[in-house]
Amino acid sequence: MPDDPFALVIFGASGDLTKRKLVPALWGLFQGRVLPEPFVIIGVARSEMSHEVFRERMREAVAEFARVQPPASHVWDRFASSLYYCAGSPADPLLYERLGALLKELEKDTDTGGNRLFYCATPPSLYPQIVTRLGTSGLHREKAGWSRIIIEKPFGRDLASARELNRIVSLVFREDQVYRIDHYLGKETVQNILVFRFANGIFEPLWNRNHVNHVQITVAESLGVEARGAYYEEAGALRDMIQNHILQLLCLVAMEPPVTFDASPVRDEKTKVLRAIRPIHPDQVDQVAVRGQYGPGFLDGQRVPGYRSEPAVSPDSRTETFAALRLHVDNFRWAGVPFYLRTGKRLPKRASEIAIQFWGTPHLLFRRTNPSDRIEPNLLVLRIQPDEGMALTFGAKLPGPEINIRSVTMDFRYGASFGGEPPEAYERLLLDALRGDATLYARGDWVDVAWEMLTPVLEAWGEGLAPKFPNYEAGTWGPPEADAFVEREGRQWRRL
Ligand code: BG6
Repeated sequence: MPDDPFALVIFGASGDLTKRKLVPALWGLFQGRVLPEPFVIIGVARSEMSHEVFRERMREAVAEFARVQPPASHVWDRFASSLYYCAGSPADPLLYERLGALLKELEKDTDTGGNRLFYCATPPSLYPQIVTRLGTSGLHREKAGWSRIIIEKPFGRDLASARELNRIVSLVFREDQVYRIDHYLGKETVQNILVFRFANGIFEPLWNRNHVNHVQITVAESLGVEARGAYYEEAGALRDMIQNHILQLLCLVAMEPPVTFDASPVRDEKTKVLRAIRPIHPDQVDQVAVRGQYGPGFLDGQRVPGYRSEPAVSPDSRTETFAALRLHVDNFRWAGVPFYLRTGKRLPKRASEIAIQFWGTPHLLFRRTNPSDRIEPNLLVLRIQPDEGMALTFGAKLPGPEINIRSVTMDFRYGASFGGEPPEAYERLLLDALRGDATLYARGDWVDVAWEMLTPVLEAWGEGLAPKFPNYEAGTWGPPEADAFVEREGRQWRRL
């Protein structure tokens, strides 16, 4: 992959994402000497600010949020000398004139080869204006070098708005210039799903309906909505986590081997998985989906407020903070294997994992086994975070004169095997976009099918009677209906 010099323009430079993730990630790459050089980074936001003040703010952000600490002053100074700021409203055509002038001047001085990467990190309602004005101002034009755009999630809030955004983007950029980010795809443990499946000989033969009973994907968070009440009120768990992160995980688990590990074949296979998901009938939403909202409760011994008392949240909000879904991938590999998905805020702990539950043995040979011993079917758990790793459980003979069987675990931990902290997801993803590799980004058709598939649930939850919220206490594993939902099918959520 070429390491071209570049100019990066971040719209939304005074926002949380720039401060917590983007600039710390760029700094991490720079310190690790993998950020292509020379480069310039231009932050764009409304408030007036000098380049110097912007640099100082970014230094503070890096000191607080970066993985690589602390910024040694001479290295930091070198990085900071490439940071610039341009004030203006994304809706104002004059901003693009000023930005164009600044880009031209910096590109000449810095020799960035005319390569431009734009990053939409503003509130999503501004994306259409940014893209359109980039188009009318001609800043997106590929004259000397390449031009690309990264679009933050959420990409639309339903099928219609996602299609409209895709349409607007496609008027200005070709699909191969568009990078729809899903930061889960940049996590090491998520990238490892395909490596685990396709770089090892022994698992893939078992990876199908003949051996797998069901799959559970959990993304549990102990945090509430923090300061993001206004955004979350409009989103809810289904839009915030399932439409993107969790469906991406499902696709990585369920997809067929791609012909090569490149953007097109990998993303073709992922889209095929979504297309194979059994459509949800509007009358059957209650049978395949459960929603919840947390009330007050206790977490780590601390009393925490209910969702409806969080800042910027309506006191009678009907937004879900918990969602569980059962999906079927109707194809030769997965016919009959349910995929249970769940996510929620204010659950007892932060834990994300994918659990592959295998079938038990066809015949019980060890009849003398103590009846109180349960022979658990084999289970493979891919721990996404924290405590990144993998565990395979199997039955083993308990030492002693009888044959008694206990479940034991073979455990792999990233920390123990590789040491050190894994790079941040945004580091990998930014670098990939700079190198022109979209493998770990969502393609337009994938996003479209993901929204389409969830539309019956979004509509059922958006309309109809007000749900009986709150229906789970903060610090518990979601509403009781979520348990009943899988137990009806003779299964149980894993206790994490
Ligand atoms: C974001 C969601 O996309 O992912 C947040 O908007 C969520 O609500 C976050 O907390 C979780 O990301 P991570 O990397 O902390 O698991």
